[in-house]
Amino acid sequence: MNASLPIPDAQSFELGPWSVIQLARIEEALERWVGADERVPESLAQPMRYAVLDGGKRLRPLLVLAACEAVGGLPQAALRAACAVELIHAYSLVHDDMPCMDNDVLRRGKPTVHVRFGEASALLAGDALQALAFELLTPDDGSVPPAMQARLCRLLAQAAGASGMAGGQAIDLASVGRPLNSEQLHEMHRLKTGALLLGSVLMGAACGPTEPRTMAALTDYGSAMGLAFQVVDDILDVTADSSTLGKTAGKDAAHDKPTFVSLMGLRPSQNYAQELLSQARASLRATGLQNTAPLQALADKLVNRVF
Ligand code: IPE
Ligand code: IPE
Ligand code: MG
Ligand code: MG
Ligand code: MG
Repeated sequence: MNASLPIPDAQSFELGPWSVIQLARIEEALERWVGADERVPESLAQPMRYAVLDGGKRLRPLLVLAACEAVGGLPQAALRAACAVELIHAYSLVHDDMPCMDNDVLRRGKPTVHVRFGEASALLAGDALQALAFELLTPDDGSVPPAMQARLCRLLAQAAGASGMAGGQAIDLASVGRPLNSEQLHEMHRLKTGALLLGSVLMGAACGPTEPRTMAALTDYGSAMGLAFQVVDDILDVTADSSTLGKTAGKDAAHDKPTFVSLMGLRPSQNYAQELLSQARASLRATGLQNTAPLQALADKLVNRVF
């Protein structure tokens, strides 16, 4: 455990310099792990690398690393978990953009994977990224204890699967053109986006020792922030332009998707996102952890982002 590292003081902590260091670790690892094995057919390596590298805010990996720091966890396990979560996220975006789902042509400022490589390659790249995520979590070099590996796999599977992201995407597709009530919309957002953000926090925490009280408070933090994240995604779809977002703006209304903006209106959605941020902050204080400055700053950034 990295108990010898200095603990950032909440007052003086700056997210910028911290992120620069963490993002460099994440990019270097993704570059090394994704599609780089020479046994991967080039026709698959290319769309995999295109989907993952060179783009994306990497918010989920940053959350994993911040949560690991908060509990004084194993850095090499957290780096693997951070990349695994990003691979699941990247795969979800590749499939989300396909014609059978949201039919989008722009992602991370580039043509979407199916536009660039064709639908079959996009489908397979997504499949392969998902498998690679679990391979990363299970190294056989002794660097991550087996029980920690198993726990990380379980958390990621729960966040990505039928009662997480994939389940939420199913509700999303079944809801096109159908207004949802508040409870249904909360459930959809909690699953399709919130689950993986919460999973990121819990996986970071699972890289170190945690008490049930801490895990419960971190679960509250991750849930509030995860929901807020998709509320903000709905808001930005209306308020931002495509070049800022790096993806097509205005498509939720164009596709008749139920969103927080369509349910509550723009201003109440913005207020709701801030209320969720306050909840996340309060939950973080209830963790009893000392080193939560990075998690605190990330919550602010996630909710107050402009793209
Ligand atoms: C976009 O996620 C899709 C949602 C889950 C709302 P991000 O806004 O994190 O996308 P990238 O990773 O930065 O491209
Ligand atoms: C996507 O939600 C959520 C997942 C990919 C799981 P959206 O469909 O709103 O995401 P964007 O707006 O295309 O990024
Ligand atoms: Mg979608
Ligand atoms: Mg979409
Ligand atoms: Mg969206």
